[in-house]
Amino acid sequence: MVLNEASAHLVTGLLCTLIPILLADEVVILPAPQNLSIHSVNMKHILTWNPVIVPGEAVNYSVQYQGEYERTFANFSWIFSSWCSSISTPACNVTDDITTTVAYNFQVKATLGNHSSAWSTLKEFFNRNSTILTSPKMNISTDGYNLIVEFEDLGPYFEFNVTYWKKRFNSQQEIKTVRKGGHPEHLTIMEAGAEYCVKAQTIVDIIDRSSDFNQVECIRAQDESPLLALVLFSSAGFILFLVGLPLFIWKMSQLLRYSCCPVVVLPDTLKITDSPQKLISCKKEDIEPCETVVQVMYPEEFFHSWIQDTL
Ligand SMILES: *[C@@H]1O[C@H](CO)[C@@H](O)[C@H](O)[C@H]1NC(C)=O
Ligand SMILES: *[C@@H]1O[C@H](CO)[C@@H](O)[C@H](O)[C@H]1NC(C)=O
Ligand SMILES: *[C@@H]1O[C@H](CO)[C@@H](O)[C@H](O)[C@H]1NC(C)=O
Ligand SMILES: *[C@@H]1O[C@H](CO)[C@@H](O)[C@H](O)[C@H]1NC(C)=O
Repeated sequence: MVLNEASAHLVTGLLCTLIPILLADEVVILPAPQNLSIHSVNMKHILTWNPVIVPGEAVNYSVQYQGEYERTFANFSWIFSSWCSSISTPACNVTDDITTTVAYNFQVKATLGNHSSAWSTLKEFFNRNSTILTSPKMNISTDGYNLIVEFEDLGPYFEFNVTYWKKRFNSQQEIKTVRKGGHPEHLTIMEAGAEYCVKAQTIVDIIDRSSDFNQVECIRAQDESPLLALVLFSSAGFILFLVGLPLFIWKMSQLLRYSCCPVVVLPDTLKITDSPQKLISCKKEDIEPCETVVQVMYPEEFFHSWIQDTL
């Protein structure tokens, strides 16, 4: 009997402490969020925690952070996270809060109406240098002769260390740094018909770390280049054209000259090889006799006139 009374008291006592938590309107003690952790991949940092569940009620959360500066110079003060005041999801994107490579602490509290839980903090400080760096997503392509690589845009901190080589020629590996993702980058001019291979890793200077290399990808240059042949062929054609055009014009002018104004062959006796002075004077005087003589020289005409004469 005594035992029963005691247990009855215990039960009512328990109920007295439990009821305020369970009845939302009279909440005084809201449990603090538990199990805080940061998932950080490629310098994007997400703080998560176990949700606080009050049946029939929507619990909100607020997040604060503290860097080395606040701990050292600002009396351990806390700053509200940029995006996470009164949020309803048990996760907060704290990427924009972490601006330097130092140890950060975070704390979260639950709120319901006017009531707040205690703050709950990370078990271990978070430094962004512990972020997981995935090997880069890469796309290689060629227009036939140029080797082009493109990486996904991972933001301003990311560079890509590219290694490429000509396959099956035991050729030396070349290294190039691509400063930014999200746009095509020219690597090299490819040898016709050769296969080229590419691999890359991400580099993040501000945390002094790099990812593993990604899977090697290979691509073949266009075979004996129809383009090159076309270029050679058309340039040969162009040279032929350049040489042929003056020849053609010269030939045409010759033809036209012969058909319009036939050249008259002067007999040796009328050819002047002396000074230009004499030439001029000779020309003036000798025009008539020259033409007469020349006309006589045509054999057909001579023959024609001979036939006319005899008939
Ligand atoms: C703590 O959180 C992680 C994920 O953030 C989860 O996998 C784990 O189960 C949680 N632990 C507890 C005890 O709830
Ligand atoms: C530092 O913070 C504590 C409590 O967090 C407060 O009592 C104290 O006055 C503060 N000191 C200064 C210099 O602000
Ligand atoms: C977190 O915030 C960063 C910076 O604002 C953004 O780039 C990233 O996409 C966000 N991540 C998620 C999962 O919302
Ligand atoms: C991150 O930085 C801290 C402090 O500079 C250092 O002790 C730690 O070894 C670094 N961790 C990694 C993974 O680089």
